[in-house]
Amino acid sequence: MIALKAVKKIYADDGSSTVALNGVSFEIHKDEFVAIMGPSGSGKSTLLHILSFMDRPTSGSYTFFDKKIEEMSDTELAYVRNQEMGFVFQSFNLLGHASVYDNVEMPLLYSEVKMVDRKKLVENAIAAVGLVDKTKIEASKLSGGQKQRVAIARALVNNPRVIFADEPTGNLDSQSGGQVMKIFEELHTAGHTIVLVTHETYTAGFANRMIHIKDGVVDSDQLIDKHPTHAGFIK
Ligand SMILES: Nc1ncnc2c1ncn2[C@@H]1O[C@H](COP(=O)(O)OP(=O)(O)OP(=O)(O)O)[C@@H](O)[C@H]1O
Ligand SMILES: [Mg+2]
Repeated sequence: MIALKAVKKIYADDGSSTVALNGVSFEIHKDEFVAIMGPSGSGKSTLLHILSFMDRPTSGSYTFFDKKIEEMSDTELAYVRNQEMGFVFQSFNLLGHASVYDNVEMPLLYSEVKMVDRKKLVENAIAAVGLVDKTKIEASKLSGGQKQRVAIARALVNNPRVIFADEPTGNLDSQSGGQVMKIFEELHTAGHTIVLVTHETYTAGFANRMIHIKDGVVDSDQLIDKHPTHAGFIK
């Protein structure tokens, strides 16, 4: 379980400071698919950076599956991050000149997975996003939707507990966006916790819970009663 308590994040540049998060508290449970929404500048990306160990809070506490991050060194955080988290970004963040296979294998290079096991994990992840026929293609030659599916394969190759995504459909047309969201939905069903930031109500509609952030605080936090046919909405 993930628990934030009174988390603040203040960015201080010389002279001025910005309060990006002003006391955020909530818990996210293992079986949840959470969408974080809110206006531009409200603190969504900052919150995701803190949740995913890319940044530390200025104050407050954060517990990630029994580990208190304020008691952990940067090296420990980097280790847990590699082992237990996957990431998907709006702009894909792939190595354009590397193949789909090499992009997906990337997180395993920093883990303790044996060479012999690696191949199977990479192939399974690529199959999970439906891109087996593109395995050897350079990432730069794929469409936006295909790139994002490679990014998802890379995020899940380590079998992480939690997958974080910041605007994963922001650069996609609605059909590719729908395919990408279907994959997130499958990953949730398979037991991964999903936390994603989005502006789009369509994307948020795949989640089971919606947290609205406004001016650095939680404005509302509600469970979504999913329509049973929603999953079949996009073909
Ligand atoms: N590295 C930084 N240094 C200084 N200020 C920052 C930094 N990152 C974010 N901020 C400020 O913190 C506030 C929250 O920014 P954040 O990026 O979290 O917003 P957001 O909700 O993700 O917005 P958007 O929807 O536009 O992506 C903004 O006022 C922003 O200018
Ligand atoms: Mg943002």
